[in-house]
Amino acid sequence: MTVLLQAEKLVRSFGGIMAVNNCSIEVKKGSITGLIGPNGSGKTTIFNLITNVYKPDSGRVYLDGQEITGLRPNQLCHRGLSRTFQITRLFWDLSVLENMIVPVRQVGFRSLLGPGMYQHEAERAQELLRRVSLDHMAHQPARKLSFGQQKLLEFAAILMSKPDLVMLDEPAGGVNPTMIRFIMDLIRSLNGEGVTFLVVEHNMSFVMELCDHIIVMNQGEKIAEGPPPMIQSDPVVLDAYLGD
Ligand SMILES: Nc1ncnc2c1ncn2[C@@H]1O[C@H](COP(=O)(O)OP(=O)(O)O)[C@@H](O)[C@H]1O
Ligand SMILES: [Mg+2]
Repeated sequence: MTVLLQAEKLVRSFGGIMAVNNCSIEVKKGSITGLIGPNGSGKTTIFNLITNVYKPDSGRVYLDGQEITGLRPNQLCHRGLSRTFQITRLFWDLSVLENMIVPVRQVGFRSLLGPGMYQHEAERAQELLRRVSLDHMAHQPARKLSFGQQKLLEFAAILMSKPDLVMLDEPAGGVNPTMIRFIMDLIRSLNGEGVTFLVVEHNMSFVMELCDHIIVMNQGEKIAEGPPPMIQSDPVVLDAYLGD
């Protein structure tokens, strides 16, 4: 398998805190890679460094062999990388359908001030909403969605740009078991269509069942990586994370 995403020796501190310390990670093309670790271990910061929400103090990021360090969200999106946020970012007063379109506009495919929704955008949005069973809510304001549905909407919205690599920050956090199952099935079916995933998640059955490779962080550093059975029995991981 070839490497799709490569983060090389990322470093980022906030004040005195070393949030990410010399961390290198690789995501193989076609994989579902998990990123786990205790709260505060630097998982979200890794996402923020890869997607340039924060600038790394040092280190580089490559996508499909090309450097993407410092690229803006719209540039990353054009190169096939999309992400969700740990705290869902939606426009509460816009409709579910409009929430599907706004990110496409924001990444600069077309200005928000441009003409109304293109037919092909609307069609793709409707198709994705069907896929996440939100089509019946298309014209409702996003605030009417349940918490789990909000997560699904954010997930569906980032699929509008047909990403090759999707990064999910705690997709199952606070979501009920039926919805968790639905999200797992969705990830699996998209993966079957060629989408690569990097997933941060605390729900261990979710991670162990879904991922083919797991990277474990602790205090800003990578402490282990490997296939799920190896991670589950790694004493270093058990001490740092899975033990408690
Ligand atoms: N914007 C920020 N300002 C200050 N400290 C931050 C910021 N973002 C993250 N941190 C700190 O960096 C460390 C790693 O945080 P984070 O990456 O959010 O961890 P995780 O996602 O693994 O729970 C924590 O100590 C956190 O408080
Ligand atoms: Mg986090």
